[in-house]
Amino acid sequence: MRGELLNRFKEVYGDAEGADVFFAPGRVNLIGEHTDYNGGHVFPCALEIGTYAAARLRDDRKLRFYSANFPEAGVTETSLDDVVSGENAVDYKNRKLMWTDYPKGIIWTFTQNPHYKKLVKKDGKLLIDRGMDILYYGTIPNGSGLSSSASIEVLTAYIIKELYNIDISLKDIALLSQYAENKYVGVNCGIMDQFAVAMGKKNHAIFLDTSTLHFEYAPLNLGEYKIVIANTNKRRGLGDSKYNERRSQCEEALRRLHAVVDADTLGDLTGEEFETYKDAIKDETLTRRARHAVYENQRTIDAVEALKADDLQRFGRLMNESHISLRDDYEVTGIELDTLVEAAWKQEGVIGARMTGAGFGGCTVNIVHRDYIDAFEKNVGSVYSERTGLKADFYAVDVGGGPCRL
Ligand code: GLA
Repeated sequence: MRGELLNRFKEVYGDAEGADVFFAPGRVNLIGEHTDYNGGHVFPCALEIGTYAAARLRDDRKLRFYSANFPEAGVTETSLDDVVSGENAVDYKNRKLMWTDYPKGIIWTFTQNPHYKKLVKKDGKLLIDRGMDILYYGTIPNGSGLSSSASIEVLTAYIIKELYNIDISLKDIALLSQYAENKYVGVNCGIMDQFAVAMGKKNHAIFLDTSTLHFEYAPLNLGEYKIVIANTNKRRGLGDSKYNERRSQCEEALRRLHAVVDADTLGDLTGEEFETYKDAIKDETLTRRARHAVYENQRTIDAVEALKADDLQRFGRLMNESHISLRDDYEVTGIELDTLVEAAWKQEGVIGARMTGAGFGGCTVNIVHRDYIDAFEKNVGSVYSERTGLKADFYAVDVGGGPCRL
């Protein structure tokens, strides 16, 4: 991949002198959906598919971006001064989102957020003082819910750390990338995606408490089983989805619960506590949203316990329950995701299946016995196209590590 990227870089920018190649993964969440902005637990892992980039520093303040995934868009040229002034960011609601807003948002955050600005200043001068040429190439299907955006963000932050010699931890890279997504891109996401991408570890999933950022790597000993991702090929645009609406519904439910219970987040409540206090929410929809957040958090804790006890069957049942709750209480699935998951549940060799990511399209995650993967893809694929008229894609994936220089 390194050689290919450098060749492409040369074609696009004339020469590849001084360029180096970097990678950041995508992620799949095994369980713990829509819990991260509710102070609950998540259990994602990084994938071997992700985003590659060849990048180099320039002598002037120009910034040039090119994506081999969108060659028709050509090279986007801007300057450090334009990005740092942050004009785009302020008006994000009124502009069309471009893929280059992800890398720009990272540079903007490094130079505008007071916390990160401290890290990029030395002797009163900004370390980010020269432009860059970057060529990106992603192997994650866009809008599939496998965090292609977090992957570009974390990759760009990692490139900046490496090229300008900035002393920033991977955990801070995750937080910085989330800030860029919230404030520059305008999607009010939680920390899960950026954290999973920045902190990924080969063959491990990350059990993260999103209220404290305490985390633990859990070995993914799936034995004869593999993670199979199924893509609905129904694009999921977070910005125009109901993501932000779900988030505010949870906030409203918590606000109402405060009349009767002292909890910082929905993730602080046990199922029992929720049943005791839920009448204070006084709205059927908000109650279902909050119920999902509370019980999904508990399921995530239980699932990690099951994995540690080598009880894969229980892990799978919890995945299935997660999907049902996302379908009925949180209402973020839809016919495409439900068809894929419900067909998966009926297949031989399947331990568990659920939607993954924000929902409303995107992908499902399935734990499938390796001997049954072919049959799984064939059967689920044909049920899916019959029912929806769309073609599903399947990827049997391996769990990869975090960002690196190749
Ligand atoms: C998206 C967001 C995450 C998380 C998931 C749902 O992927 O970026 O922060 O909220 O949806 O679990």
